Amino acid sequence: MSVTRPRGTNDVLPDQSYKWQIVEAKIREICHNFGYQELRTPIFEHTELFERGIGETTDIVEKEMYTFIDRGNRSMTLRPEGTAPVVRAFLENKLYAQAMPAKVYYLGAMFRYERPQAGRYRQFTQFGVEALGSSDPMLDVEMITLPIKVYQACGLEGFKVHINSIGCPDCRPAYRKALQDKFLAQQEAFCMTCQGRIERNPLRVLDCKVKECQSLLADIPLVTESLCKNCGDHFAQVRTYLDQLDVKYVINPKLVRGFDYYTKTVFEIIVPTLGSQNAIGGGGRYDGLVAECGGEPQPAVGFAVGLERVLLSLAQKETTVFQAPKPDLFLAQFGGATKDVAIALAHKLRDQGLWVELDYMGKSLRAQMKVANKLNCLGVIVIGEDEVAQNRAKLRKMSTSEEIEIDLNHVEQVEQAVVKLREGQVLA
Ligand code: HAM
Repeated sequence: MSVTRPRGTNDVLPDQSYKWQIVEAKIREICHNFGYQELRTPIFEHTELFERGIGETTDIVEKEMYTFIDRGNRSMTLRPEGTAPVVRAFLENKLYAQAMPAKVYYLGAMFRYERPQAGRYRQFTQFGVEALGSSDPMLDVEMITLPIKVYQACGLEGFKVHINSIGCPDCRPAYRKALQDKFLAQQEAFCMTCQGRIERNPLRVLDCKVKECQSLLADIPLVTESLCKNCGDHFAQVRTYLDQLDVKYVINPKLVRGFDYYTKTVFEIIVPTLGSQNAIGGGGRYDGLVAECGGEPQPAVGFAVGLERVLLSLAQKETTVFQAPKPDLFLAQFGGATKDVAIALAHKLRDQGLWVELDYMGKSLRAQMKVANKLNCLGVIVIGEDEVAQNRAKLRKMSTSEEIEIDLNHVEQVEQAVVKLREGQVLA
């Protein structure tokens, strides 16, 4: 039997995982600076949470959820996104009783049964941020500037910010009706899914990925023209703050996003060179979702970033952000007492935070030197019988073959040499 990984999933191998760790560290640092704290929710939730939260006419709920019946006969779903779980956790744990707005972030696997292709997977990783309890447009802007800071910290350039406002329950019904009337006039031309959606949720048609449907959207009424005063003012303030912060954006009045929970501001961040799966992040305001999930009404706003796509975009260009980590030292030995000394020294040096490699394969000295090279070790210490007898050994800098003598009882000497190795300085 040969078992392969499921379609649409990835193994992140050691020569890539360090990049993930660098991006994740930058994310945590930037969230810290903005005052967002991590919230970890379960990988699966009751199916009803997503049906109610995301909306029954969305692609995700209609055809992309990993839903299963558990052994207690309950319907469960692997989370396809993080916003509905955060709202559930906010209510269940009464986070509204703490300082408001509640400001949280999350990092983790999401699951959608989509057709896999470059940048689109069935298991993927999202970094998301949510702020619950405030309707201040400043927070909408924070949800755009925070991911931009993450992209910039990773060395990503050339992304475009698209924004729109899709109104609120006061102004959206009139827009919905105008859209529906327009679509009904040519209903047969739309795909079967959209034909159903025209009745139930015409805004969803704007999000359809079928080419024929997209081509019918050329002269539709625009949502930005039918916003109520409150939504119009809110959107104007969002744009003013973006201008003040010198954030470049494009207003895209057809941007609706794939979830029914959005109100007012929606946005997407796109890397045009990424091909068809070019959204590296997206989000918006969802002032009705907390009440939809059974809580007292609370305004809220957030975004999520797809980390696979961020890494794919970074792979398209040279970046100095990702320096593959290298072992500090390889302790070569000849077995017996020399191996005992090497093990003890490795133990002490590792306690000091050094990355120390040893031979686990019983190899000859020559072969150990080859391994040290393959591992890109910065330095090697060869511990033979003479070295053990005299408690002294040579530390060799691999890139230049420069050698210095060190005292094996003097761990600080080795540490000082490693600092120089890491900085590329001469040892002597
Ligand atoms: P979303 O636009 O569905 O929004 O996903 C956010 C990001 O996740 C996308 O821009 C993309 O980078 C990545 N992504 C989505 N699907 C896939 C996939 N199949 N494979 C790889 N990457 C993918 C949300 O999920 C909302 N919960 C965002 C939000 C938070 N809105 C408010 N708060």
